Amino acid sequence: MAALLLVSLGAIILTANAQMDLVFDDRLAVATALMETHPLAGFNPVHHSGPASPYFRAPSQAGLSYDTPEGCVVDQAAYFVRHGTAANQQRVVDTATYFVRGYLSQGNYINNTNLNRGTVITLPDSAVNTTFADSVTPSSSCPAYGPPSQLGSTNSNLWRSTFQNRTAARLNTFLDGLVLNATDIGVMQDLCGFEFSINGDTTWCKVFEPEEWRDYEYAADLNYYWGSGPGNPLSATNGWPWVKAISDLFVVGPGKTVANGTLTPPPLIVAMTHDNNMPPVLAALGLWNSTTTFPGETETNYPLPVTRRITDPTRFFHSTYLVSFLGHIALERMTCTIDGTTLQQRQQQGIVHKANIFGGTFNITNSKAFQGTNHTFVRVRVNDAPFPFPVCDSGPGSSCPLENFTSLVNGQMKEVCGDFVERCGLQGVKGATSVMSFLTTAGDGESQLIGVEGTPKGPASPDSP
Ligand SMILES: *[C@@H]1O[C@H](CO)[C@@H](O)[C@H](O)[C@H]1NC(C)=O
Ligand SMILES: *[C@@H]1O[C@H](CO)[C@@H](O)[C@H](O)[C@H]1NC(C)=O
Ligand SMILES: *[C@@H]1O[C@H](CO)[C@@H](O)[C@H](O)[C@H]1NC(C)=O
Ligand SMILES: *[C@@H]1O[C@H](CO)[C@@H](O)[C@H](O)[C@H]1NC(C)=O
Ligand SMILES: *[C@@H]1O[C@H](CO)[C@@H](O)[C@H](O)[C@H]1NC(C)=O
Ligand SMILES: *[C@@H]1O[C@H](CO)[C@@H](O)[C@H](O)[C@H]1NC(C)=O
Ligand SMILES: *[C@@H]1O[C@H](CO)[C@@H](O)[C@H](O)[C@H]1NC(C)=O
Ligand SMILES: *[C@@H]1O[C@H](CO)[C@@H](O)[C@H](O)[C@H]1NC(C)=O
Ligand SMILES: *[C@@H]1O[C@H](CO)[C@@H](O)[C@H](O)[C@H]1NC(C)=O
Repeated sequence: MAALLLVSLGAIILTANAQMDLVFDDRLAVATALMETHPLAGFNPVHHSGPASPYFRAPSQAGLSYDTPEGCVVDQAAYFVRHGTAANQQRVVDTATYFVRGYLSQGNYINNTNLNRGTVITLPDSAVNTTFADSVTPSSSCPAYGPPSQLGSTNSNLWRSTFQNRTAARLNTFLDGLVLNATDIGVMQDLCGFEFSINGDTTWCKVFEPEEWRDYEYAADLNYYWGSGPGNPLSATNGWPWVKAISDLFVVGPGKTVANGTLTPPPLIVAMTHDNNMPPVLAALGLWNSTTTFPGETETNYPLPVTRRITDPTRFFHSTYLVSFLGHIALERMTCTIDGTTLQQRQQQGIVHKANIFGGTFNITNSKAFQGTNHTFVRVRVNDAPFPFPVCDSGPGSSCPLENFTSLVNGQMKEVCGDFVERCGLQGVKGATSVMSFLTTAGDGESQLIGVEGTPKGPASPDSP
């Protein structure tokens, strides 16, 4: 479908309490207000429309606060984003270009577009035998990924065959002359999310009942879970190269120049890609792959069953919370002051002065202790909702210490995800690489990210794993 594009944004000035947080259009409030006035009150179909859903902040399934933990500052972030519309190549590039101008041009983009402080890198889409892992659509050049991904449509269609005829039969009771069948239902339900995304109108959505929306959404869940998510054994293999590249950039940190190189990683890195490229990154990170069950049940929820809908509230995998329009996975690098004073302690010490209250004085003797020490952590958010990494959550807000994150990425995660060239069956193919290097090399292909543990300095040799 569309082009891939990676936007690497230049300098963002962060103040001490600024949170690096892209704010996407959130029409949740509008939607909720509309829904309250019609028979679906309390149930919002556009929050159950899978890839046809407009962007909204996903519920905090893991129970973590959305806020940056106290004492922490997000100093670098990487977003992997589903592009907002069903676009052709030029539209994706245009979106990225306008985003950079609008977000980073200090409000003067109309008069002077050269003032923007970001860089747009455009990558080829569906690049068979050209880019391999060095892409934000790697699965297009991974031959082994295709066959298991077919289970996405097979399983979702199998599930659809269990409910769509029932929906058609119900609607037919209201019709005179026109007879709907199962084939009509899918596109009719797709219209709800699309129309809402285009003009905010939900009139059509009222045709269907909440259970019909849940069945429709579950078909999308099965499609992404089996096609490009944890249900496809090649998904994590395809998601890992991005995670690895970002992990390396986080080790260097924003605005720092790498040892013996000239690369200075930017504070914000945004990749704009397609819905089907999101679940592989989620799979590589090991998220939404739990084996939770109903209390007292021995059967596991995973893999997602095809012939019955899982209603267990602890099921994490919801396509709507990942591949909605502008759905995204964000990795945040946070610098946190540990063992420093809390706001309350600082107030008691008189370090923080409140208006019209005569405060105390700062005890210089204790100042070192008040400051604490800085440590760096990594946090992941999916459509804004933070999640703990399954095996590393000892940091503030259940984040993972950066050293542990890099060990995880280069160790256990790499082990589970496997090598791209080897698992995709690309041994011996000319130019095949397992490394995403476009973020860390200059245009001439000379590697500039030197001295980061585990980073190969060039493309993997064709026949080495
Ligand atoms: C852009 O140029 C117009 C016309 O010269 C001017 O009125 C306007 O103030 C400028 N805007 C900015 C943000 O500089
Ligand atoms: C990709 O390369 C492989 C191995 O060289 C070849 O068999 C295959 O036909 C190529 N695919 C395309 C679409 O060019
Ligand atoms: C729908 O199809 C299923 C599976 O073929 C069948 O068991 C069921 O009776 C059908 N329901 C209706 C209302 O036609
Ligand atoms: C529904 O009707 C259309 C048009 O008559 C037909 O092509 C299609 O095969 C039917 N689908 C089912 C599931 O019966
Ligand atoms: C998902 O969970 C299963 C079962 O625990 C595990 O075998 C598999 O490696 C996990 N997948 C990933 C990508 O972490
Ligand atoms: C300042 O801190 C030092 C070391 O903890 C302590 O001995 C001293 O009494 C404190 N002074 C005041 C005014 O609180
Ligand atoms: C810790 O980080 C904060 C925020 O980045 C910074 O203001 C402070 O100077 C750092 N403290 C130390 C001891 O490096
Ligand atoms: C995190 O890293 C530290 C230092 O490398 C190590 O001592 C600790 O065991 C690690 N923790 C986990 C959970 O891996
Ligand atoms: C940087 O280059 C110097 C001199 O060539 C070398 O001794 C050093 O090991 C290099 N450092 C890294 C991190 O590659």
